[in-house]
Amino acid sequence: MKIINSVPALRAQISGWRQNGERIAFVPTMGNLHNGHLKLVDVAKSRADRVIVSIFVNPMQFGKNEDLDSYPRTLEADCAGLTAHGADAVFTPTPELMYPRGLDVQSFVEVPLLGDLHCGASRAGHFRGVSTIVCKLFNLVQPDIACFGQKDYQQLAIIRQMVTDLSLPIEIIGVPTERAADGLALSSRNGYLTATERAKAPALYKILQQLKAGIDAGNHDYRALEQQAKQLLSAAGFVPDYVNISNQHSLVPALDASEPKVILAAARLGTTRLIDNLEL
Ligand code: PAF
Repeated sequence: MKIINSVPALRAQISGWRQNGERIAFVPTMGNLHNGHLKLVDVAKSRADRVIVSIFVNPMQFGKNEDLDSYPRTLEADCAGLTAHGADAVFTPTPELMYPRGLDVQSFVEVPLLGDLHCGASRAGHFRGVSTIVCKLFNLVQPDIACFGQKDYQQLAIIRQMVTDLSLPIEIIGVPTERAADGLALSSRNGYLTATERAKAPALYKILQQLKAGIDAGNHDYRALEQQAKQLLSAAGFVPDYVNISNQHSLVPALDASEPKVILAAARLGTTRLIDNLEL
């Protein structure tokens, strides 16, 4: 697997593949890869001739008091995993390469409405950072397809909307969430959990499943169900941020029993913020 850390080398690699008529799949990541990321690579590989992954801890999507500095950087292990899963190349830019003028004067891409809800409401600027870096990476890599995990449900919806709004010729593939045996969604941030917190963490998904069971059984008082789920999270040791029963497409609060719905949740366990979701 090739490690690429400059734009000219990236462009040369991409145009070489293009000249051979090869279809290119892209998997953007922030590194510290787990089986969820490697599943994205497997799906990408099954749908294209070449797979390129990016590893970039994107400063633009971290708030001032968030974990940019402590975010785990594990390039060597990541490259071993990517090689084992047959990735062809990894692009590892520096912040200076991606934001040469600095973040204060960087042009940006923002997806209104979808980007303002849920995590967007509690993490100001986060989705602006995500859509800007993904748009830049798409312009550099120019892939045919790009794979994203469904664990970041709102992020996936925002990227799909950005691709539509900006007429980017890229097919976006959502890949189902990988979970530990006890149900906890895999996330690089799980590594922050203490042993006690890790033992409590699967309750997040269990509570979403209970909520779904309530709705499936005919309870359509969504706002009351959301409050009950937050109380259950607090009782399980979390500090809930939100539990929202939303429309799967617009992500606005669900009102109608017949619309396709998703439960979206975020909650803190100690200093670690976990998110999860469940489609109904
Ligand atoms: O999901 C992530 O790891 C990041 O938000 C992404 C899409 C790589 C953009 O930095």
